[in-house]
Amino acid sequence: MAGPPAEEVAATFDAAADDFDRVAPEVWNPAGQALAFQAGLRPGDTVLDVGSGTGSSALSAASAVGPTGLVHAIDLSDEMLERGRVKASERALLNIEFVCADATAWEPPSTVPDAGYDALLSSYAVFFLPDMDLAFARLCTLVRPGGTVAVTAWRDSALREYATIYFDALGPHLPQPLPDPTAVMPPAQRLDSPDKMRDWLTAADTVDVEVNELSNLIPATEEFCWNFIVGSGLRATLSGLEPDVVERVRSDFVGLITERGLHTVDATTLVGTAKVVGFA
Ligand SMILES: C[S@@+](CC[C@H](N)C(=O)[O-])C[C@H]1O[C@@H](n2cnc3c(N)ncnc32)[C@H](O)[C@@H]1O
Repeated sequence: MAGPPAEEVAATFDAAADDFDRVAPEVWNPAGQALAFQAGLRPGDTVLDVGSGTGSSALSAASAVGPTGLVHAIDLSDEMLERGRVKASERALLNIEFVCADATAWEPPSTVPDAGYDALLSSYAVFFLPDMDLAFARLCTLVRPGGTVAVTAWRDSALREYATIYFDALGPHLPQPLPDPTAVMPPAQRLDSPDKMRDWLTAADTVDVEVNELSNLIPATEEFCWNFIVGSGLRATLSGLEPDVVERVRSDFVGLITERGLHTVDATTLVGTAKVVGFA
């Protein structure tokens, strides 16, 4: 179940950072807030946010745990983290540290209690981990027994029509024929229904699993549709293409959106939480 290599992920999100934040109000922030809420954070909690990006869930977590709490927001992409640091500073949040680190090797610093974090949050990020199950199982050991793990992932219906239109527009511009676009990120497909997410969390030695669906149907304006491609992991599909080719992909894509009458982009998301059993 290998995800893309770390250097590739970092390069994609370094390049995507500005565009990523352009779609944050519609896409990333609602899910980040829902995740922090469902995790039931309390003042004083210590939180690890994995693949924090520019802070959609990490900043919500920092507000929830307050000045006596602490959030470690880790990500491979320095450009994403830098935007998170700016937002934290604008909100005068002093209890959050954005750290460039690979989640597969993260060790909590001494500011975290020996028993572990109170909560682990990860919004739209676990499916990027090179071996999702192994990496997530290791991350769960960094949470204290009885602590919370909380993840978001796309619902199976989400992005389907939008991505089909995009791959139809992109395909003719690529030097090689496209592999099956639905196989671009197989790990994400293992979390894309409430039952699958529930089973996956349970298999990670957790209990009290709760999975909720966050409906999010975003008006498919030309601007949003393109910003979401270049401001998400889909940006990787454009890597290596010359700017004039990228512009032709954009133009064909927005043309197809109109031709096929796409009115909304389905960004429906699953929010899953569970309690870590651990070795208490
Ligand atoms: C789709 S973005 C989501 C960002 C943020 N959680 C949000 O929802 O706004 C996925 C993020 O995971 C990060 N990521 C992927 N693999 C990672 C790893 N092994 N360690 C740390 N961060 C990782 C990427 O750099 C990217 O910023």
